[in-house]
Amino acid sequence: MCARHFLRAKADGRKLSLVTCYDYTFARLLSKTTVDGILVGDSAGMVMHGYRSTLSVNVELMRLHTEAVVRGAQDKFIISDMPFLSFRKGLSAALDSAQVLMSAGAHALKVEGVDGHEDVIQRMAQSGIPVMGHLGLQPQSVHAYGGFRVQGRSDAAARDIARQAKTLEELGAFAVVLECIPASLAHEITGDLGIPTIGIGAGAGCDGQILVLQDLLGMNTDFHPKFARAFSDGARNVLDAVANFDDAVKSGAFPAPEESY
Ligand code: KIV
Repeated sequence: MCARHFLRAKADGRKLSLVTCYDYTFARLLSKTTVDGILVGDSAGMVMHGYRSTLSVNVELMRLHTEAVVRGAQDKFIISDMPFLSFRKGLSAALDSAQVLMSAGAHALKVEGVDGHEDVIQRMAQSGIPVMGHLGLQPQSVHAYGGFRVQGRSDAAARDIARQAKTLEELGAFAVVLECIPASLAHEITGDLGIPTIGIGAGAGCDGQILVLQDLLGMNTDFHPKFARAFSDGARNVLDAVANFDDAVKSGAFPAPEESY
């Protein structure tokens, strides 16, 4: 898989599936699956480190997570997130950040938004870095929204997102994530673009879908956004396994003779 394959998948009408990953162990498992790509998302800040938003994530944290995932999933197409403000401090600083993440082994980089950093997106694309855009709910702008809210509900907001999507394509992005926008808007944008749209909370009309791995595994007992279908009862499995271990230790059933030297 590479950025060109994403474009071919769209042309062939083949859906793309992507998941997030932040660590070596899960990356090794994902390398055995048929998913089309792995996003080392800045959601790592929330999922792995317990921050309340992605704003605390910096390039160094993204470098560490990217390297771990690259070591575990050598054959997968790996996209790394440009963290908060790393692409807003001028072209040179943005390219330095991009260089760190590409040197860490990422095959592509994702950048939220487009207005005000068109030059960065274009220069990255022209420098041989496949750029994935991210529109709709941009988690790095959570405080501007006043919370994690569905975007593009009004006609003006919808037109603005559609315009930004077209701009991203013109600047050379190879794909765009559409997060938490009405399904009808995502469907319309998908039809208007030659590059694939990857939806999360954006309905079935996108060219592909992405979910946070821990959400699709059902690891969260207290966080259930409408769009995040759990394909496994991961939390139950973990809790049962740890309870079984605890019982076995306390009853003396673990370790057994065959588990001892
Ligand atoms: O950081 C992330 O996990 C993301 C996905 C939600 C698309 O940006």
